[in-house]
Amino acid sequence: MREFKKILDQRVKETQEIIDRYLPEETGYQRRIMEAMNYSMQAGGKRLRPLLMRETCRLFGFNGGERDVEPFMAAMEMIHTSSLIHDDLPCMDNDQYRRGKKSTWAEFGEDMGVLAGDALIVEAFSTAAGAFAGTKHPYRVGQAIRILAEKTGIYGMIGGQVVDVELTNRPISMDQLDFIYRLKTGALLEASMLIGAVLAGAEEEECAKISKVALNVGLAFQIQDDILDVTGNQEVLGKPVGSDARNFKTTYVTLEGLEKAREQVKRLSEEAVEILHSLNRKNGFLEELIQMLITREK
Ligand code: IPE
Ligand code: IPE
Ligand code: MG
Ligand code: MG
Ligand code: MG
Repeated sequence: MREFKKILDQRVKETQEIIDRYLPEETGYQRRIMEAMNYSMQAGGKRLRPLLMRETCRLFGFNGGERDVEPFMAAMEMIHTSSLIHDDLPCMDNDQYRRGKKSTWAEFGEDMGVLAGDALIVEAFSTAAGAFAGTKHPYRVGQAIRILAEKTGIYGMIGGQVVDVELTNRPISMDQLDFIYRLKTGALLEASMLIGAVLAGAEEEECAKISKVALNVGLAFQIQDDILDVTGNQEVLGKPVGSDARNFKTTYVTLEGLEKAREQVKRLSEEAVEILHSLNRKNGFLEELIQMLITREK
């Protein structure tokens, strides 16, 4: 366990350094937006998505993808961060804290919050397209950009957020909740792992298994997020607790209760590790990372 923690810290640090290389310079008459983008990108966060992307690429032996994956790691964190910036806006969840600091709109104003979120999505695709320069596998890079777009847009994270806000304060079924979670949270985690696999040249059946692993991880991750919204600590989480109740959200916890929610996180994560095993490839660190998420407190 201590060994895992050491490697995790090291890999988060490497991820941070990779991301920093792709952030915009704060310059020109429009520098306020670069400041807002960098403020939110550098506020911290677990960097889970780029980490999972690189570890999945490593699972398939990198195989020519070790350099190509770097711009995609930064791109993924930009898209994820943009989703958080917009999610916190007064017209969405109306939250004032994120990653241990004031949320982007609370610090820079609502106008800059909207624009910084937009700008990060666009920068993400520009950054990802940079992978074409110098790659030995342009076809894989093209595929990865497509995955990024599909899982960000109306069939992915944005689609999920739409249903999430539309059904706020209304009775919803477990089926609808499952749909929301698969999209709003699952899709970006799926894209992260899938892009790692694609850039390493994984076969189609392998990619299909990776998608399943990631969707399980995504569902477990969102259910744990719901749990922490009830039982967590703002200092540790870096964001407010009780946001869901304040916004009259139906969550896994309100539908099924805390105990069942905890069981489900464990079951989904263990199943994810089992599917991972069926690939006959080994990345012990990736397995431990998925298992660690079961008991995460932030
Ligand atoms: C928060 O994601 C939003 C959800 C999908 C639940 P994270 O918990 O990964 O946020 P950061 O990146 O660590 O801040
Ligand atoms: C949002 O879910 C997931 C996103 C796409 C940002 P939440 O609204 O529960 O995320 P948090 O709790 O604010 O991080
Ligand atoms: Mg939300
Ligand atoms: Mg929220
Ligand atoms: Mg939440």
